[in-house]
Amino acid sequence: MHRETIASLLTLSLAGEEPISIVELPLPPSIVDDSVGACTGNNNPRGTGCIKIVLTGDDSLPQGGTFTPDGTALVATVNYTGAPAEPHPASIYTGVQTILIKTDGSTFPNGDPWKCITCGVPASNQVGTDRKLQDYPRVFKDGKRFLVGTNIIHTGGHRVDSDLVTPNNTFIYPIYWPVTADGSGPTGAMRELRLHPDDTHLSWSSFAGSDQNGFYGRLTFNPAPTTGEPRAPRYDLTHVNLIRPKNGKKILSVNKKHELKLDFSTMEIGELRGFSGSGNELVYIGYPWEACNFDAFAVNIRNGKVRRLTAHPEYVDPVDISADDKWSVVLDTRGSDRNMFLSGMRGIPPISDLVTSSVCASVRNNGYRRFFQPILIDQYGDRGDYFGQQINAAGNGSNGAFNDPNWNARADPQFSLDGTRVMYYQTLVKTPACGGANPLPCPVSNAPDGRTTRIMVATFTNRTPYPAPKFKLGPDTIPWATPYTPGMTIPSRTELTPGNYTYKGQYCGEAHVYITTSPTSSSPTTRVRVDFANLSDDGESTLNGYEDITLTQASGSWVVRNDWYSDIIQEGKVNGRKKTGPGGFHITMDVTQNYFNATGELITVLDGVEYRQPENFT
Ligand SMILES: *[C@@H]1O[C@H](CO)[C@@H](O)[C@H](O)[C@H]1NC(C)=O
Ligand SMILES: *[C@@H]1O[C@H](CO)[C@@H](O)[C@H](O)[C@H]1NC(C)=O
Ligand SMILES: *[C@@H]1O[C@H](CO)[C@@H](O)[C@H](O)[C@H]1NC(C)=O
Ligand SMILES: *[C@@H]1O[C@H](CO)[C@@H](O)[C@H](O)[C@H]1NC(C)=O
Ligand SMILES: *[C@@H]1O[C@H](CO)[C@@H](O)[C@H](O)[C@H]1NC(C)=O
Ligand SMILES: *[C@@H]1O[C@H](CO)[C@@H](O)[C@H](O)[C@H]1NC(C)=O
Repeated sequence: MHRETIASLLTLSLAGEEPISIVELPLPPSIVDDSVGACTGNNNPRGTGCIKIVLTGDDSLPQGGTFTPDGTALVATVNYTGAPAEPHPASIYTGVQTILIKTDGSTFPNGDPWKCITCGVPASNQVGTDRKLQDYPRVFKDGKRFLVGTNIIHTGGHRVDSDLVTPNNTFIYPIYWPVTADGSGPTGAMRELRLHPDDTHLSWSSFAGSDQNGFYGRLTFNPAPTTGEPRAPRYDLTHVNLIRPKNGKKILSVNKKHELKLDFSTMEIGELRGFSGSGNELVYIGYPWEACNFDAFAVNIRNGKVRRLTAHPEYVDPVDISADDKWSVVLDTRGSDRNMFLSGMRGIPPISDLVTSSVCASVRNNGYRRFFQPILIDQYGDRGDYFGQQINAAGNGSNGAFNDPNWNARADPQFSLDGTRVMYYQTLVKTPACGGANPLPCPVSNAPDGRTTRIMVATFTNRTPYPAPKFKLGPDTIPWATPYTPGMTIPSRTELTPGNYTYKGQYCGEAHVYITTSPTSSSPTTRVRVDFANLSDDGESTLNGYEDITLTQASGSWVVRNDWYSDIIQEGKVNGRKKTGPGGFHITMDVTQNYFNATGELITVLDGVEYRQPENFT
C-alpha cells in the first residue's frame, strides 16, 4: 500500500514536469563465453571485440562516463572478453578498456558506433600505470584527455574522438600523490577521483583505517620525475588540501553548558563526490541533518558556505550538477521505500547517527542490487513537497521498460555540457539478489544479446542547449580546509566525550542525551540514548518518546551491529510513530557487502502509512 503512496506522490508532481525522451546507447556485442576466440566473426563481423556479460555477482562493468565537450560521444569502461590469441588483429580487444560511444547516431570510419581507445596501446606508452582503467571515466574539458581510475590518457594531442587517434599515439600516465615527507615511494592510495572543470584540479578520497577522508589538489604533468615511484612520465598532485574545516568545527558538538548543538553552517564529509558544474563547489554526501537521512550537500570552495541539495528521507549517493549549476541529477532510492522504516520520520535531530550512520548508509543496497533511480532536481534542492522528477518515469514497469525497477542505476550520472541531456546507466538485478532462496525471481534480460547493463541518454526536449561556460581556475589553497603536507598524519576526528547532555529544540522542547562507551566490552561499544520531551526543530511537529541504540564494531572490522530500541511519537503536521518490536531491532551489516540481515523489527508509521524493513537478504 505504501508503495503506491510514494508512486502517486511522484506522479502528482509530474504535472508541470518537463518532457524527457530516453534512448539506449549501443554497446559492443556482449557474450558470456570467456574462452579464447569465443568472440567470433558471427558475434562481431568487424572483428572489434566482444564484451563480457556478467550473470552473477559483481556487475560493475560496463560503466558509462562523461560526454565529450561537443556531446557527440560518451566515454565508457568495458571488459572485453573472448578475443582470439595473438597475433590476430582482434587479440587487442581484451580486458578492461576505455571506449568512446557515439551519442548522435553516427559511426566511426569502420562503421562501428564505438571505438576502443586503450586497446593495443604499446607497453612503452603506459609505463608505470596500474592499468586500472575502470572507475569514473571522464573526458577533460580540453577534449583531448581522459581521466579513468587513477590514470590520465592522452590521445596524441588530438580530440579524443578524432580519427587520428591510434594505439601508437595514445599514452596512459599514472597519477602520483606524494605521501612521504621526502617524496619517496609509491603514490598514496586514491579512490573516487573526480576532475575539476578547470582540467587542473582533482578531488579524491582515501581511507585512513576505516575513516574516509576527502582531498583536493593540483594536477601537473611531470615528464621526468626525480623522486617517488614510478620514475616515468606521470601526473603529480601538489597543493593538496584535506577537505575538513581547519577550525575543527563539527555538525554535532557540546557547548560549555553541556548542551549538544547542531551547526549546519559547517561541513562534514561522509564521501566526497567531486565538483559542481562550475567547479565553484565541492559536492559530498555529508553527516545528516536529520536522523538516518543521508543527503547530498555542496560547499563553496572559496568561502565554505554549505547548501543542502537533497532532503528526501530515502538514500542518495551519486550526484552530477549541470555546467550552469542550475540542475542536479542524483541517484536515489526514493520511490523504492527501502529506507523509509529507518529514515521516514522527518525532523529527528541527527544525534543517534553517532552510532547508526554505517547501518543507515548501507540498507540502500541488497548486495549488488542497487535501488537507485535517476532524479532531476532544481538548483534550490528538495524542499517542502518538491522532490524533483524521476528521469526514467516513463513506462509501465514491465521487463525492460525505462522504469523497470529491476534495472538499477549505478554511479555516476552525467550531464552533457550544454545542459540538455543526462547519461545514466543501469544494471539488471541478478543472483543472489534474486532467484534461489530470494523471493524476487530473476528477470531475463530482453536485450537482443542478453546483456545486463544498459547506458541510457535522457534528453530534456524543451531545453535549449547553452554554450559551454568558461570555467574558472580552481584555487590551489582552499582557505577554510586543512592544508595537507606529504608525510603528515591525518588528524583523527574529535569524538564526543561520553556523558549526559541536553539538546534544546530549535523551536521548542528538548531531548536528554546519554552517550556512553561500554566499560566491560573489549570491543568498542557505544550507546546513544535520546529521550525527547516535546521537541520540535521545525515548528511543525513535536517529538516525544526515545531511541536507544548500541553500536558494536570490532576495531578494523567492516561489520557493524546495531541493537536498536525506539518508540518515538510525532505529532503535529505529521502524526507518526517509529517503534521497535518487543525485543528491539538487531541488525548486523557488513558495509563492504550491504546485505540486510536483522532480527526483530522497526516500523515507522506516518499519517497511517506503515513502512517496514525489507526481508533479510532481499
Ligand atoms: C573481466 O572479464 C574477465 C573474464 O570474464 C574476468 O575474469 C575479470 O574479472 C573481469 N574484470 C572486471 C574488472 O570485471
Ligand atoms: C605502431 O608502432 C609499431 C612499432 O613502431 C608498428 O610496428 C606498428 O605498425 C604501428 N601501428 C600502427 C597502426 O601504426
Ligand atoms: C507494457 O508496455 C509494453 C511495451 O509497450 C507492452 O508490450 C506490455 O504489454 C505492457 N505491459 C503491461 C502489463 O501493460
Ligand atoms: C547519565 O544518566 C544516566 C541515566 O539517567 C545515569 O545512569 C548516569 O549515571 C548518568 N551519567 C553521568 C556521567 O552523569
Ligand atoms: C509536553 O507538553 C504537554 C502540553 O504542554 C504537557 O502536558 C506535557 O507534559 C509535555 N511533555 C513532556 C514530556 O514534557
Ligand atoms: C546474520 O547476522 C547474524 C548475527 O545477527 C550472524 O550470526 C550471521 O552470520 C549473519 N548471516 C550472514 C549470512 O551474514
